[in-house]
Amino acid sequence: MQIQVQHANNIKMKKILISLTCVIAIALSSCYYDNEEALYPRIEICDTTAENITYNKAIAPLIKENCLGCHSTANKANGGGLALDSYEAAKGNIDDIYADVKQEQGTNFNPMPKNSQKLSECSIQNLETWATNNFPK
Ligand code: HEC
Repeated sequence: MQIQVQHANNIKMKKILISLTCVIAIALSSCYYDNEEALYPRIEICDTTAENITYNKAIAPLIKENCLGCHSTANKANGGGLALDSYEAAKGNIDDIYADVKQEQGTNFNPMPKNSQKLSECSIQNLETWATNNFPK
């Protein structure tokens, strides 16, 4: 008799354990959601081949797209009087350009492009590559 009670208790315990496991499993799985950014981090393919990082191929388009709204010769008043639409201007101001595009937006240190998203890591890398390789045209 004693043995039978114990056996029944064992079965009860097993049932409780199994249901507990289920509850935990369901709780855990409902916390899991597909975060696309985490599952598939955006991989930017950055071409660092030196011959592709010339002013004409990489730097002028980058500046045109992100900077000339405020820094062209015609509208440089929007950009504190600084025009960046020539090879000489880009090369001559590279230290300031590089320092500013590396700033996080929302800081006090002239983050550029002003009031916009920070450039991609690849674009920043291209500016650095261009300077390191002595400003190929
Ligand atoms: C929306 C307008 C705007 C855009 C876009 C913009 N700038 Fe500027 N930039 C300014 C203004 C205005 C100033 C003058 C300083 C200030 O008010 O922050 C300035 C100043 C600068 C300076 C001189 C500041 C210093 O550090 O001495 C550099 C260099 C510069 N910008 C680079 C860039 C580059 C590179 C881009 C593109 C990646 C860019 N800017 C995009 C508006 C802009």
